[in-house]
Amino acid sequence: MIQIPKGCKDILPAQSKKWQFLETKARAAAEQYGFREIRTPVFEHTELFARGVGETSDVVTKEMYTFLDKGGRSVTLRPEGTAGVARAFLENGLQGGALPFKAYYLISAFRYERPQAGRLREFHQFGAELYGSAAPYADAETICLADGFLRSIGLKKYALELNSVGCPTCRAAYSKALRDYFRPHLAEMCPDCNVRFEKNPMRMLDCKVEECKKWTAGAPRMLDYLCPDCRAHFEEVKDLLDGAGISYTVNPSIVRGLDYYTRTVFEFTSDAAGAQGTILGGGRYDGLLAQLGEANVPAVGFAAGMERLLMVMEAEGAPMPEDEGINCYLLGMDAASRSRAFVLAEELRAHGISCETDLVGRSVKAQFKYADKRGARFVVTIGQNELEEGAAEVKDMRASSSERVKFEELAQYFMIRR
Ligand code: HAM
Repeated sequence: MIQIPKGCKDILPAQSKKWQFLETKARAAAEQYGFREIRTPVFEHTELFARGVGETSDVVTKEMYTFLDKGGRSVTLRPEGTAGVARAFLENGLQGGALPFKAYYLISAFRYERPQAGRLREFHQFGAELYGSAAPYADAETICLADGFLRSIGLKKYALELNSVGCPTCRAAYSKALRDYFRPHLAEMCPDCNVRFEKNPMRMLDCKVEECKKWTAGAPRMLDYLCPDCRAHFEEVKDLLDGAGISYTVNPSIVRGLDYYTRTVFEFTSDAAGAQGTILGGGRYDGLLAQLGEANVPAVGFAAGMERLLMVMEAEGAPMPEDEGINCYLLGMDAASRSRAFVLAEELRAHGISCETDLVGRSVKAQFKYADKRGARFVVTIGQNELEEGAAEVKDMRASSSERVKFEELAQYFMIRR
């Protein structure tokens, strides 16, 4: 049998209520802050991610699903949502509209990573992006939205970690300090870090190789190199979060895995997500839109990993909706009753009642069994007697009680019992 590709997961009907719950909460949280949904293509020109996400990030150098289409163009399945939203914003001239522009998305994304618990090759994100404000208020509001969303899905045991990665001005001095620090140890560091040393030494701080981690632990910290403007910005973001009652810790080692970040970066982490502790990550990326389209538009945003959120919700015992099943099952005892049940089912559905009837030709016993498996709240039985009488036997499966209900009154009967 052909199997699902490694690192992918089916979301089966029995689980889909949980996903719908998460998606509904995400939409509600985003819309409360004035964000509206944006949908962009699953694939983009490879260059968008190479230029946008950054040529020194692991995501671009190692993890992209890139292929040539039949026209010989290099395209890539999106490894994240930010670059596509930035492209859509610029391409559609949305900087001419009301700013700040606020958009959210619920997407699947693709990264060729080594699969493990909480790390997939196809995974799902809820993300939000805000364009057109360089002020710390935008960073703080984005973080408030992220926090509000996590609370709305019942999470309590997560932590917010905050850092600033500065701007190109302060980063030049910081990169020099990092190079001075790492230079004597380069021979002991991995080949990737040797490349990162030349191209973007900040990436070395994110290296997962044990020998490299030995050196990264004592490396200079960006926070000590922030220029006065970046320092003031960071202080104001913290003040605003304090004012909003959002607790956080400053973690100077957060650099994020993507190259576009400037100033504020943040991660929401949870021990319940296992080795993949980050459930939501984001930050400011003031340079990205200028890099893609010559429009100097400051930006900030985040994305949360839906699979990790579900893992954490389960571990924390957060309430999750179960599949409730159908409202009622219409059981026909013979051919004529079955036909009548079929018509009645259509009438009930026209009144918004979810119901099923036999499509297989099953015996009465087998139909009861199916209705039970499908979680039907009511079973409506129709046989010869009921046809003659013009009324059905309605059994309430929870109360185990039955009563006679006229065919023409069935819809009303179920509408008040939904
Ligand atoms: P990211 O940190 O790469 O940021 O991903 C955001 C979240 O997606 C992670 O915190 C994690 O929960 C989830 N995630 C990432 N990779 C995987 C994977 N292989 N399997 C399962 N879950 C995963 C971004 O993607 C940025 N675009 C966020 C952003 C938006 N920054 C600004 N705006």
